[in-house]
Amino acid sequence: MPHQLESVAAALVDEGKGILAAYETVPTLTKRFDTLGIQSTEQTRRNYREMLFSSPGAAEFISGVIMQDETIRQRSSGGMPLAEVLSQQGVIPGIKVDTGAKPLAGSPGETVTEGLDGLRDRLSAYHGMGARFAKWRAVIRVTKTLPSSACIAANAQALARYGALCQEQDLVPIVEPEVLMDGSHSIERCDEATGTVLQAVFRALIEQGVALEQMLLKPNMVLPGKQSAQSASVQEVATATLRCLRRYVPAAVHGVVFLSGGQDDRVATAHLNAINRLPGPRPWRVSFSYGRALQDSALDAWHGRDENLEVGRQALYRRARCNGAACRGEYSDEMEPAAAGAGTPHHRREWHDD
Ligand code: 13P
Repeated sequence: MPHQLESVAAALVDEGKGILAAYETVPTLTKRFDTLGIQSTEQTRRNYREMLFSSPGAAEFISGVIMQDETIRQRSSGGMPLAEVLSQQGVIPGIKVDTGAKPLAGSPGETVTEGLDGLRDRLSAYHGMGARFAKWRAVIRVTKTLPSSACIAANAQALARYGALCQEQDLVPIVEPEVLMDGSHSIERCDEATGTVLQAVFRALIEQGVALEQMLLKPNMVLPGKQSAQSASVQEVATATLRCLRRYVPAAVHGVVFLSGGQDDRVATAHLNAINRLPGPRPWRVSFSYGRALQDSALDAWHGRDENLEVGRQALYRRARCNGAACRGEYSDEMEPAAAGAGTPHHRREWHDD
């Protein structure tokens, strides 16, 4: 019988399904609400999350949801813990457990993600609240001279220690080393940095005894920097991304679930679809764990108003369905509503501080 963690990892990347990342901290969600004139209170944040978690039919394409501390402790308007609202639909509750990227001493402009102190007890408490997987995000900045080897080593070590603690506490770790899209670097620099980071992360994971079958990797795609003059076609991004992952991600890893990283929501779907259509070996399931690319249209549609809850739920359903199809390589433009405009509004794609 497969280990329980292995079946959770497998269920999270079940065919045609991926993860909804809805773990924005209070300050980050407040910033997103501010841009739309929505007041951020415990109640409005709860209402928003409850809307996302109760989108009819979305569970067909959403295997798990990543929450944060406030959300996992909240109850629905009907009085049910939000984690249970999810598990009743067969959606696996997950939890973000890092405490954020902090300046890395001795390496100006770079960060190391913190949160290891007391982590064992927090993981155990979250397991008791229904969480079955966790996530930790390392942030890697690219410039002409960065990332430094000090930054890569510190973040890889923290990711590996987090991974080992999660497995000890019966949670599947999602290991997220994000090479940022911010910057004017080329796609080739992103490729190089992503490869170096993945190599260091897997070396550390293996050294710390993390079972690769019982974790998921959440990487960035290989893209030119947002401020770069270079543009790359969907096919070029897919090819570079898959080549980089094939080189550095061991076949034992159960699944690769991409972050969207500030890409336009439809573009993030098109990239995932193209990666899944490429020929050649793909030893892991390739899916999504999108935050902004799944939520932005729903947040826009809802706009903080009760009368819009239904259209907000429908907006989430649409993006979930398109991304579910992209996991199978079956997404096409015809699945998008013609009147929906050109994708994510720019002003909100910028917000991501967590
Ligand atoms: P985005 O898809 O908005 O990048 O969020 C997913 C995530 O978890 C990044 O840390």
